[in-house]
Parts: sequence; structure tokens; C-alpha cells
Amino acid sequence: MTQNPQLLLLAGDGIGPEVMAETRRVIAWLGDHRGLVFDLEEDLVGGCAFDAEGHPAPSSMIAKALSADAVLLGAVGGPKWAGVDYAHRPEQGLLDLRKSLGLFANLRPAICFDALKEASSLKPELVSGLDILIVRELIGGIYFGEPAGIEDLGNGQRRGVNTQVYTTPEIHRVARVAFDLTGKRKGRLTSVDKANVMVSGLLWREEVQKIGDAEYPDIQLDHMYADNCAMQLVRSPKQFDVIVTDNLFGDLLSDEAAMLTGSLGMLPSASIGAKDESGKAHALYEPVHGSAPDIAGQGKANPIAMILSFVMALRYSFNREVEADLIDQAVRNVLGQGLRTADIVLQGETPLSTAAMGDAILSEMESLNV
Ligand code: IPM
Ligand code: MG
Repeated sequence: MTQNPQLLLLAGDGIGPEVMAETRRVIAWLGDHRGLVFDLEEDLVGGCAFDAEGHPAPSSMIAKALSADAVLLGAVGGPKWAGVDYAHRPEQGLLDLRKSLGLFANLRPAICFDALKEASSLKPELVSGLDILIVRELIGGIYFGEPAGIEDLGNGQRRGVNTQVYTTPEIHRVARVAFDLTGKRKGRLTSVDKANVMVSGLLWREEVQKIGDAEYPDIQLDHMYADNCAMQLVRSPKQFDVIVTDNLFGDLLSDEAAMLTGSLGMLPSASIGAKDESGKAHALYEPVHGSAPDIAGQGKANPIAMILSFVMALRYSFNREVEADLIDQAVRNVLGQGLRTADIVLQGETPLSTAAMGDAILSEMESLNV
């Protein structure tokens, strides 16, 4: 008997539960109409887990995440936990989860939906058709490097330290993910570092080049300094196909790229670990937007990024391209009809609620499912 695929749902904080609720409806629809039944489990992560269990990533939750085929996460964090010590912040829960699952490759597509090109802060012609993929290293670099801490130097002085550190295997494995994905796209990979001032960046550059020369001679590989990349992204974003970079630069550049599309509330992400012998990998899918505490609980949030994160799960964890394409198309059609939640609403129009956007997407899925 083949088992149903196992999904762990971690709605988290802020608007997480609202956007997850709409995604659950999409998941249920696949069971009813496409014979794709998931076994769902739920648990807490982030601030809500800290409140209930004293830790933002309880070990029982991590155990469930390790045994699931994929994890969907809504959002973590909020002002309520601003005073909590670093080790127990909601954000730390997310970092623990990424680290425990070995999710070293974070894929962040920045796609400009045609119906939304006017919403970008850049001129529509600069972003129309934009489709960039940022591959961010996610469990190394300065986020996790040792030593890290704040030290008392006496006489009222203190010293804060974080360490940027990468080893060759860490660079090679994320580079290979980026090269593989580039091979399925336009074939242009830009590796981003600060090799002009950081020796860890020099190592990054040399090792990515080595992998390219030895294993991916057909991919066009270029290198760019991170500051220049930040500038090029607003000057002429369509020059990029895939960008591969370290944890910190990837954090910054992916926010920048996301905003170019005018639709931060629309962008999904996937975080993927190493494949085991059977070809399976741990994976976590989450929207790029945060917990948006200012609108939480009001039914205003845009569920599209969460739904599209589930679409990435269908593609990368479950190999269900047909269903993924169907949901993708439903989202495009809904946007094409001018239906919008508050974050992307056109001036003078009434925004849809979170649930009404879910209704619209489901009814479009229904029409497309012939
Ligand atoms: C992100 C976020 C996280 C990060 C925070 C919430 C820990 O900004 O996923 O980009 O810095 O990685
Ligand atoms: Mg970030």
C-alpha cells in the first residue's frame, strides 16, 4: 500500500494562520478533485510556540518536521516578542528549523505577474516579464558562524562579534543546486560575493568557478560583487536569470528582488536539503512576506504567496507538475480579472478579503480542471 504524502503545517504567527487556512482549502480541493490526498499534521512554531511551550522551535515539532515529506510554514514573529532574549525569539525558531532539517538551499523566485507590473516602484518596462531566481545559502555563513556574541570589555565597553565562515563543501553543494536549476532555465548564473574585501568571498568565488568549469561547462557563469548586484537589480533587473549567493547577501538581495516585482505579498520560497539514497530531501516552503502584525486577524492578508509556496512543494517535493500548473494558472487568471487583496488593490477599487481571494482561486481551479 502506498502511503499518502505527509505534510506538516506550521501556520506560525501574525497573518500565518489566515494564509494557511486558504492553503488548506487548496490542499483539500486536490484531494477531492485530483485524487491527491495529503496526510496533514499541524504544530506550532515561532512566537506562538514560545508562548505555549517556552521555545520557538520545540523538539517535538522538529521531530514531526523531520518525518514529514514537506513542511509548509506561514510566518513567524511580531512586536509581542521584541523583548524576548535572542535564543527564544520567533526568528530563532525558524533558524533552528532550517538548521535541524539541513535546508542549505533557499530558492526565492522573483516573478513579475503581468497584471501587477504597474505596482512595481520601477518603470513597467524594466520589470515586465521579470523572472529571476535567487538561490541563497541558508544554514551557514555569518548567520551561524562562531565565535558570535557580545562580550563585556570592562570600563563600560562591549564588543559584538559575528563570524562569516564557509567551507568548500558548503559552497559546492549550494552551487550545484544553482547550476542544476540554471540548466532548466535560461542558462545564465551570477555568483555574488564581496571577494574584493572578504577572503571568505574569494573562496566562494573560486569554488563556484571550479564547480562550473568541472561540471557545468554549458552554463554561462559570471561573478558580481554584492554592492554592484544590489545596484544592477534596480538598474536593469532583467539581465539576471539565476543568482547564487551566501546567507546574508541572499537575505538582502532577495528582499530587494521581491520588491521589484511590486508584489512582496505574492512571492513563495522553498528551502531544500540534501537528497538521501532514495532521492528524497527535507523541504520547507514558506512565503517571503513576514507575519504582518499590523493587519493580522483582520482577514486582509494576501494568501497568494502561501498558496504559491504550496505550489513549489508540489513541484519540488511531490513531482506533481500538472496540479502545480493548474493552481499557478488559477492565480494568474484571478489577477488577470483584476481581483486583488488590499496589498495590491488598484486605486478606487474594493479589496477582497483573504477568504474571498481563496474563493476566487478555488473557483478558477474548478473551471480549469476539465
Ligand atoms: C528571511 C527572514 C529571516 C532571515 C528571519 C526572519 C530570520 O528575513 O527568511 O529572509 O533573516 O533569514
Ligand atoms: Mg529576509
